[in-house]
Amino acid sequence: MPKPAETSAPDPLAQLIQKNQFVGWLCDVDYEQARVLTRDDWKARARGVPQNSFLLAATVDSHKPGGEVFLLRVTGAAALPASELVAGLKVEKLKQRSAESAGGGAFTDLAAEQFQLGGLQCRVLGQFYLSHGQLRLGCDVESYASAAGLAVYRPDGAALETIVNYVSPERLASSREEARRLGLAGDLPRFPIGTVRFSSTDRLHRGEETGRATFHLNAVDFLARRTAVFGMTRTGKSNTVKQLVSVVQRTSRDFNLKIGQIIYDLNGEYANANQQDRGSLAEVFPADTIRYRMMPTPGFELILNNFFRQIAEGHSTLRGLIEGSKFARSADLEAFLSMDFDAPRKEDCNSDYEFQRQSAMYQIKLAAYQAVLARAGYELPPDFKFAFEVNPGIRNKVNPSVDPANGMTAPQTFEWFQLMRQIQDELITSTGASWVEPDTNVLINLLLQKNDQGGYIPGYRLLQPFKDYHAPNRSTDVCDEIYQHLVNGKIVILDLSVGDPVQRERLSKRIARHVLRSSMATFNAGQHAPHVVIYVEEAHNIIGRHESLTEIWPTIAKEGAKARLAIVYATQEVSSIHPNILANTENIIVSHLNNHHEIGELAKYYDFGDFAGSLIRAQDVGFARIKTLSNPFVIPVQIDRFDPEREKRRGAGGKAH
Ligand SMILES: Nc1ncnc2c1ncn2[C@@H]1O[C@H](COP(=O)(O)OP(=O)(O)O)[C@@H](O)[C@H]1O
Ligand SMILES: [Mg+2]
Repeated sequence: MPKPAETSAPDPLAQLIQKNQFVGWLCDVDYEQARVLTRDDWKARARGVPQNSFLLAATVDSHKPGGEVFLLRVTGAAALPASELVAGLKVEKLKQRSAESAGGGAFTDLAAEQFQLGGLQCRVLGQFYLSHGQLRLGCDVESYASAAGLAVYRPDGAALETIVNYVSPERLASSREEARRLGLAGDLPRFPIGTVRFSSTDRLHRGEETGRATFHLNAVDFLARRTAVFGMTRTGKSNTVKQLVSVVQRTSRDFNLKIGQIIYDLNGEYANANQQDRGSLAEVFPADTIRYRMMPTPGFELILNNFFRQIAEGHSTLRGLIEGSKFARSADLEAFLSMDFDAPRKEDCNSDYEFQRQSAMYQIKLAAYQAVLARAGYELPPDFKFAFEVNPGIRNKVNPSVDPANGMTAPQTFEWFQLMRQIQDELITSTGASWVEPDTNVLINLLLQKNDQGGYIPGYRLLQPFKDYHAPNRSTDVCDEIYQHLVNGKIVILDLSVGDPVQRERLSKRIARHVLRSSMATFNAGQHAPHVVIYVEEAHNIIGRHESLTEIWPTIAKEGAKARLAIVYATQEVSSIHPNILANTENIIVSHLNNHHEIGELAKYYDFGDFAGSLIRAQDVGFARIKTLSNPFVIPVQIDRFDPEREKRRGAGGKAH
């Protein structure tokens, strides 16, 4: 019979089988479960078979056409058909031995071989097979009739790496498609984040560092997707986030792919080098990290806006603050709250004359608002002047020696509006109607602390408590600025550990809303939005189960994908996360959880149930069980430690932008 033609390309199915990792034979198998017969010496040769490890069961000629390889997960020990009999014999032997001597020899007779036999209970995870020369993994089993006589191996090193990093040809194609859209050659990158680890005790199965199987998060799984990081406090959630941020930054730089990353840092642990962790993201990527705070601090930008320049932003901040406080609502205050500061638009006006008239009125309204701020003690930006145009008739009536168009100081402006109000009745008579627009009138009331009837109102005083929300030296909207950094592929850290909690929440939401809105606008304009990853710590506060789904965070989690927004959220409370969001989370990373309630919540998803025992038992820091979009089953991984020193060295050797 002629030999089959030798193919030069290595057969990916055959490469999965490592003969020296033989651990036994498949006894029986069905669609769900399999039992493996193994022996102590075989296991030892393969450096142990820890619980939850992967096994491959293959026919001897599995690489031939139609060949297939079962992928199994060890879930426990299995009784073999003759177990009871063997156990009985063992007990007899042990009795004899203890009677002979304490240090008695090993079982030397025939029974020894039997005693070494054992069974492994496994779950069937799927079947690897070849299709058009490509490795494919079916996550169920088509047929198992021919299973008898399959040899079982514990995959290690390269084979293990192939298994845990398996991506279906379909997803690979979409990764290429996305890469092509972004102008990259080849596939989207992969982000290495740890190495496979099956059990807490990893004396044998993980070997030396060099031989470990690296686990990657695929960009195609991660970008524009949702990733959850669960685990008790101090089990490595923040480390996972740091590791992700740095690996995404490094890889995207090497690939010349811009990925903006923004971290909602509630405890200030990403922005600052803390002693215990030596080094922070900001230190590792000094040129690519921008830190923000609500309080002036060297090395940090201010999150706040300049109320004199970002008028609408400042006004909406004030509105939120006033609505959140318990001020008595006068008619003027209500009118102030419902004002908007949209500049008139030419296309909304009937004529050029009308547009000019409206623009002039708008200038006066702005000046009146700014005068209120100044009166309330809001610091003026450097070189700021109040300026607006009024027609000569009014100008001469109010104060012939001052032309507001030339710019006025705050006291001059106050005085000007005061005089104007005094002669307002006269002005009405001379011009036939009040020339002051209603909003401007309200603002002047607040400025002068008098309502239309001349009665006292607190007016500008109501704005005094919120002075600290204004940043006099900022020239652009902080949200725009942050978004631009993200578009440029930078790491933005919002250090929310200092400042007023109410304002912190408002600002956090406003920034999130701005990012979503800007990216959505790009998407709706038929363009590709930039890739942005948002990291949120203590997520139970933010996308908790009681949060309305129309709030900004649930909206991002639900709809951000279209706008290429990825969200990574970390919390120790699985059960506190909105079920709709959890159900739509593509990647889940879990480290130790200490109670059955939380585990139960998780066990509803995928095959996390297989790890229930181990998740409660093993408290090892950074020992995570990971389900990604590409992988049809959970993979146990030791997350790499974020090592600032090593990252810095890598950064120095890395490619430039
Ligand atoms: N994968 C890891 N390997 C080694 N040490 C880690 C790992 N993950 C975290 N640590 C260390 O454990 C401590 C707690 O980790 P952290 O990420 O802050 O936990 P969490 O955010 O879950 O509270 C830190 O000192 C951190 O450096
Ligand atoms: Mg943490």
